[in-house]
Amino acid sequence: MDNRPIGIMDSGVGGLTVACVLKEKYPNEKFIFIGDTARNPYGNKSPEEVTFFFFFFKAFLAGKQVKMIIAACNTITFSVPPSFFEGKIPVIGMSLDFPELESVNHLAVIGTPMTIRSHRHRERLKKDFPLMNVTEIPIDGLAYAIEMGKEESFIYGMINEAVQKAGAESVDAAVLACTHYPLVAGVFRDILPNTLLIDPAERTVKKAMSILADQNGQSEEAGPCLFFFTESTLRAEILVKKMFGRRADIQRVVLSGV
Ligand code: DGL
Repeated sequence: MDNRPIGIMDSGVGGLTVACVLKEKYPNEKFIFIGDTARNPYGNKSPEEVTFFFFFFKAFLAGKQVKMIIAACNTITFSVPPSFFEGKIPVIGMSLDFPELESVNHLAVIGTPMTIRSHRHRERLKKDFPLMNVTEIPIDGLAYAIEMGKEESFIYGMINEAVQKAGAESVDAAVLACTHYPLVAGVFRDILPNTLLIDPAERTVKKAMSILADQNGQSEEAGPCLFFFTESTLRAEILVKKMFGRRADIQRVVLSGV
């Protein structure tokens, strides 16, 4: 048993979708969330820049005595060299495990330009399912538009244009490879009504919890969760309260040196 919190990091509010799955499935686990709202989006930064931010947030969370860190951001997961996830506090990135796709013929991976450029989903899917037709769809600016709370018609236009351009209107399944995207799952559903939409959050959380279970590190004591943002935005506050309750503890943090 380990009652310490889990640390969760993202470039902004997207990682809240992963935190939500954690809280829903494992209500005894406490977490400390940090979202880099001041520097969002990460998706069009360089891997070196993202790796630099990753170290700051890792140190920040380590200072809060977390027992594990979830990088609830595909862009961080697929930009930071995997060896940097190792260390005293384990870091778990977004999952690439998709057993439910066994019988899928045509799949789209939709993510930020950086995540798509890494080709990590494509490589893994081709290895697991060699006959699968994989279409990669980068959508520059979508995570930021969601972060900014842009109106649905604008978001619809961005996604629809990218899907049309890629000729992916009738894919069997689509991986939402950015943790911001489940926040607009309804828009994806309108554009791809017959497509199975996959959010890797559930499998990511499952993997994190199975690692903790192996070490007898699960919490037996529910408690408050904390939310830090590097820039206070009303949007982040509203989202946190909507997802985690009106009494959620939300703080602004300025990290020196970042
Ligand atoms: N939530 C991040 C991800 O999963 C968003 C990336 C961004 O900030 O552009 O990729």
